[in-house]
Amino acid sequence: MTDPADRVLSRASLAEGNPTGWFDQLYTAAERGEAVVPWTRGTPNADLAEWIQPGEGRRALVVGSALGDDSELLAAHGWAVTGFDVAPTAIKAAQARFPDSAVDYVVADLLHPPGEWKQAFDLVVEIMNIQAMPRDYRPAALTSLAGFLAPGGTLLVCEVAEENMDMTTWVSPPWPFSRAEVESAAQDGVHLIGLETIRDGARYWAEFTR
Ligand SMILES: C[S@@+](CC[C@H](N)C(=O)[O-])C[C@H]1O[C@@H](n2cnc3c(N)ncnc32)[C@H](O)[C@@H]1O
Repeated sequence: MTDPADRVLSRASLAEGNPTGWFDQLYTAAERGEAVVPWTRGTPNADLAEWIQPGEGRRALVVGSALGDDSELLAAHGWAVTGFDVAPTAIKAAQARFPDSAVDYVVADLLHPPGEWKQAFDLVVEIMNIQAMPRDYRPAALTSLAGFLAPGGTLLVCEVAEENMDMTTWVSPPWPFSRAEVESAAQDGVHLIGLETIRDGARYWAEFTR
């Protein structure tokens, strides 16, 4: 059996030392009907939908906004949302799906974020993106993430939980997180409020504030 496109493309991209190049290639192949983007569901993340709180005009940043479902959910609940993704094709697709959207969709890289995003967001949503890059990039990604959070804001982090996976047979991507790695988003004045496992132990859900 041939490997799915995400595995083939990620292997080639990572072999060239490029941790993110394959995302745009995958979205582009999917637009041509030649691949499936395995994480696109056409609906918002169920755990974010359960968490949802009124934004009342406050600023939210959605990391790895993909096709826009989570960003739109937040915008519908009153958040002033910026959704960003490293894949330009994903950003264009989100804008095309939601032409009247109030969300500001932006191409940006979590590993090299715009300086003006420093402590600029009352809500930062990181769902299953950092785990899609190899572990070497994790410390830099988590430092960017903590840096986005404004005083008094909320940072949500959701990743696959390594402790409940059989890592002897696991094939990456993604690269699951340990509990300590999730907790390490608490840095530079950001602290952990709570960390739980969800989805029968398959994922961590953590909340932080500054
Ligand atoms: C596994 S998908 C998850 C998408 C979405 N957050 C979800 O939960 O369905 C990872 C997404 O993050 C984006 N991404 C990966 N690395 C990124 C980076 N360094 N900066 C910004 N976006 C990134 C990818 O293009 C992709 O859309």
